[in-house]
Amino acid sequence: MEYDSMPLLNAFIKETLRFYPAAPYLERVAGEDLVIPLESEITMTSGERISHLPVKKGQFIAVAIAAYQRRVRLEALWGADADQFKPSRWLEDDPCKGKALGPYAHLASFSGGYRVCAGWRFALSEMQIILAELVLNFSFALSKNDPVRPLYAGILVPITEKGVKGLPLFIERISE
Ligand code: HEM
Repeated sequence: MEYDSMPLLNAFIKETLRFYPAAPYLERVAGEDLVIPLESEITMTSGERISHLPVKKGQFIAVAIAAYQRRVRLEALWGADADQFKPSRWLEDDPCKGKALGPYAHLASFSGGYRVCAGWRFALSEMQIILAELVLNFSFALSKNDPVRPLYAGILVPITEKGVKGLPLFIERISE
């Protein structure tokens, strides 16, 4: 099957990677003094407007991937509905109006740069193949009594409101 040419499948995968990045947050420590150029000016808590961010050697840097991909304040980047799970955004023009940070769909979910995820293309093929086969053959439903939410535990994992770890599903075969 030509998985890359399946628009709905790929829109769903992209939106899942955007909205639920498996690694929502990465940490770095600056190896040297550096100045990070910003795409647009920001206002500091002091009121000062800056277009470059000075970083000192040894300074801790939190890379907020999930916030970058969801924040409505980045409206110019992802659109005013960035805080909604909406696969159809990927069926229109490229929904990200900024520079690509990572290797796939402008997302930072596979990180980027020198330490980009070495398995991102393999991971994408896995998702396409497994998802396409599953939805062709089975139907899935969530429990209405115990809704599932994402939990940050180093990586993003599913947990139910009642505290069951994992993703309990009702599954039915829909074809022979
Ligand atoms: C949806 C699935 C995946 C996601 C979202 C993902 C995401 C990431 C992220 C965010 C990093 C950067 C971690 C950091 O710098 O602290 C990373 C690194 C890495 N990933 Fe993945 N990954 C996925 C699947 C895979 C698979 C299937 C493989 C191998 C077959 C793989 C191999 C690696 C390796 C080797 C690195 C380290 C690269 C380096 O530091 O030079 N990943 N991944």
